[in-house]
Amino acid sequence: MQTVNSIAALREQIAAWKREGLTVGFAPTMGNLHAGHISLITEALKSCDKAVSSVFVNPLQFGPNEDLEAYPRTLADDQKKLEVAGCDLLFAPPVQEMYPNGQAAVTTVSVPNLTKHHCGVSRPGHFDGVTTVVTKLLALVQPDRAYFGKKDFQQLRVIKQMVADLCLPVEVLGVETSRETDGLAMSSRNQYLTTEQRAVASTLRKTLINAAEALQQGETVEAVFEQSQQALTAVGFKPDYFNISDADTLEPQQGCYQAGQNWVILASAFLGKARLLDNIELIATKTQQ
Ligand code: PAJ
Repeated sequence: MQTVNSIAALREQIAAWKREGLTVGFAPTMGNLHAGHISLITEALKSCDKAVSSVFVNPLQFGPNEDLEAYPRTLADDQKKLEVAGCDLLFAPPVQEMYPNGQAAVTTVSVPNLTKHHCGVSRPGHFDGVTTVVTKLLALVQPDRAYFGKKDFQQLRVIKQMVADLCLPVEVLGVETSRETDGLAMSSRNQYLTTEQRAVASTLRKTLINAAEALQQGETVEAVFEQSQQALTAVGFKPDYFNISDADTLEPQQGCYQAGQNWVILASAFLGKARLLDNIELIATKTQQ
């Protein structure tokens, strides 16, 4: 696997592949890779000739009180994992390469409607940072297909909308969430958990499964919300949001779930220093368990 740090070197390699008529699959990341990230590369290699990944801790998507400085940077390890997975090219630029004129006045891309709720409320400006950097990365890599995890359900939905609205010539694909054996969604932020917190962290997943079942059995959104908040606070979570929403518009729903509706429960909760994120789709509930 080749690693490049500059836009010029990245463009040179991509252009050479394009001249040969090869297809390119792309999975952007912020590094500290785990099996969830690697599954994106594995998916890319199933349907593309070449797989490209990026490791870039994007300062634009972190709020002033967030973990930009503390975010784990493990490039040498990441390179080994990508190499083993069969990744062909890694783009790992310094901040200066991506934001040569600084970040303050950078041209930004925003997707207003889908970012009104959920992480858009908890992390103001976060999605503008994500959509801006992903637009730049897509412009640089020019992939045929780009792969994003369903773990970040809202992010995936926002990026699909952005690609459609801006007519970007790329197919965006969602990849199932990789989980630890107890159900906890894999995340670079799980390492902020203490041993005690790790032991209860999978309660987030269990609460989502219970909530989806309760909704399918006819309980109301309001009742399920209350039960879920209690289940989470009982084991020490500080719930951030637990929103039962339409899976397409991401608008919060009320009342009862009707069979055939496409809903998703989006949840975020703090456990100590870690902010955990997970979701469950109602239609897919039975097969996901
Ligand atoms: P990061 O958190 O590093 O995640 C990179 C990609 O891996 C995202 O598409 C994310 O949804 C996916 N991913 C993370 N954990 C996963 C899991 N357990 N199972 C499956 N996929 C998982 O998301 C970002 O970085 C950034 O916002 C980025 C899109 C790179 C823009 O900076």
